[in-house]
Amino acid sequence: MKSNSENYGKIAVSIHWFSAVLIVVLLGSGFRAGFSEDVATKVDALRVHLPVAVLVMLLTIFRVIWWWRIDTKPQPLDGTPDWQRVTAHWTHMLLYLLVVLLLVSGTTMSVLSGLPDALFGAAQFPNLAELPPRTGHGIGARLIVALIFLHAGAALFHHLYLRDSTLRRIWFRKGP
Ligand code: HEM
Repeated sequence: MKSNSENYGKIAVSIHWFSAVLIVVLLGSGFRAGFSEDVATKVDALRVHLPVAVLVMLLTIFRVIWWWRIDTKPQPLDGTPDWQRVTAHWTHMLLYLLVVLLLVSGTTMSVLSGLPDALFGAAQFPNLAELPPRTGHGIGARLIVALIFLHAGAALFHHLYLRDSTLRRIWFRKGP
């Protein structure tokens, strides 16, 4: 279940891909709500966005505890140049930071506006555009899209061009 010095374990692999899928759903539903002028479309999109965001929040808390207390990341692959090691490390740190920023700004926006009552109760849909955390949420979302492209692009470069095990070791393997 846990990682070893060469490969990620099943739990780490599951957290990674489950979070990835959920974050793509959040980007799709978030931009759908954000770009629409129509309240019914916003409500539809945010009825997906908020529960999925809560799931990502729980998964992120679990992920931090998992790496902090339970598991240890594999070593970088042999022969990885220092600049790639450092860039990968800071890309991963920035991805965590942006996820936390989005979770905090999104939650603040919801609490300040009473949004859950409008989505799942009878309250009127609030004006989100005027809330201070709305701007940070929009900027954070665009930055994370750019970083996801960098992160996935680097993984594909390793897999298809360098043909090393960077991508394979964050996938499920048989055996211990
Ligand atoms: C990793 C976490 C999250 C991601 C990737 C994400 C992504 C997005 C994106 C892409 C947008 C559209 C931004 C724009 O058009 O400028 C958005 C808007 C929004 N998000 Fe999130 N979000 C996250 C977490 C949350 C959380 C935790 C909440 C609330 C509990 C939330 C509530 C909202 C709301 C209320 C909007 C505004 C929609 C509108 O203006 O119509 N988000 N989000």
